[in-house]
Amino acid sequence: MLSFYVHIPYCIKRCGYCDFNTYTPSELQDGATLEIVSGDYIDAVLKELEFAPTDVVPTIFFGGGTPSLIPPHDLGRVINAIKARNGLTEDCEITLEANPDSVTAEKLEGYFAAGFNRISFGMQSTSTHVLKVLDRTHDPENVKRAVDMARAAGFQSISVDLIYGTPGESLKDWQSTVTQALNLGVDHISAYALIIEDGTKLAAQIKRGDIASPDDDLMADMYLYIDQACGFKGLKWYELSNWAKPGFESRHNMAYWKSANWWGLGPGAHSHIDRKRFWNVKHPTAYKQRLFDGLSPIADSEELSDEMRRSEYIMLSSRLRTGIAKRALTIAQYERMADHIKADLILDTADALVLTATGRLMADRIVADLLA
Ligand SMILES: C[S@@+](CC[C@H](N)C(=O)[O-])C[C@H]1O[C@@H](n2cnc3c(N)ncnc32)[C@H](O)[C@@H]1O
Ligand code: SF4
Repeated sequence: MLSFYVHIPYCIKRCGYCDFNTYTPSELQDGATLEIVSGDYIDAVLKELEFAPTDVVPTIFFGGGTPSLIPPHDLGRVINAIKARNGLTEDCEITLEANPDSVTAEKLEGYFAAGFNRISFGMQSTSTHVLKVLDRTHDPENVKRAVDMARAAGFQSISVDLIYGTPGESLKDWQSTVTQALNLGVDHISAYALIIEDGTKLAAQIKRGDIASPDDDLMADMYLYIDQACGFKGLKWYELSNWAKPGFESRHNMAYWKSANWWGLGPGAHSHIDRKRFWNVKHPTAYKQRLFDGLSPIADSEELSDEMRRSEYIMLSSRLRTGIAKRALTIAQYERMADHIKADLILDTADALVLTATGRLMADRIVADLLA
């Protein structure tokens, strides 16, 4: 089996906190419109596909950037090519990451007809002042409209992304965001603690003292709140930052977390096949050039040693509800967890160590103790 990630490296405008590998028209070419800069992009992606293995495909995830800027017909070309070349499993999960501002009823119908069956909207917050600090363009009302239109178009699996810990966001603001997200009736929620990435506009504003730094204690309360609120509404945590109704867990993300094989198409995209990890050149222009010259876009690769694989397993599985299999640990590692188990940070089940909600707040420290 081979999962595919398809990177769409374009956004209308860069959000102040984001350092993803994405480009606005002005960053790519003076005065160019997105149609011009992205016109031959799908052709390049289809050329890259020819380098990938031909195993059958259980999941495809179009992420970005803003995949919903690309018309359904063009994204459909990628789905059709993968289908014709590799074949899709009968229940293949095909996800579109979408910005609530860039969708219309007609476009959503087009994506559904092109084969997408899961959609994830970047909601982030419902507080106007929080969205302003995040430098997001969308009107919070657009999210409800977008979710309703997606349901009407036929999508049965809908997710929203939230961000917590934005400077100036109170616990009350966050509670209101979570309540409104749950009231949308979505099947899945991802909630990420805001990371201040070097080189972003937000990092510069904090450095200058124009905006305060996020508060760790408040972020911990926000995490515990969403965990409880989702639980009440039947969305269970299955990965540290992800909650879902039973059966609506993202199978694509589970493939990453279980170290399955996946191929990332697009500039800067990473792939993992058996014991090898490799990644593409970062800039879309260099990426397209390589492919149109008949060359592979891979920039570099590394072979995973047994030690790297063991550490990676502990890092990834500690974040999952299924936990860290005890048989994967040494006796010394297990004994180092005794205090964490006593402190109710870890649940010691028959065959796994599973982080509790408070344990998840300290996941990095627990993993560091395990790997020490
Ligand atoms: C590629 S974006 C999603 C799709 C679309 N571009 C959007 O923003 O609506 C993936 C998600 O990563 C999260 N994200 C990006 N930068 C982040 C940061 N610095 N801290 C926390 N979460 C971040 C956001 O929640 C965002 O929705
Ligand atoms: S958060 Fe999403 S819309 Fe904003 S710049 Fe990043 S990828 Fe683009």
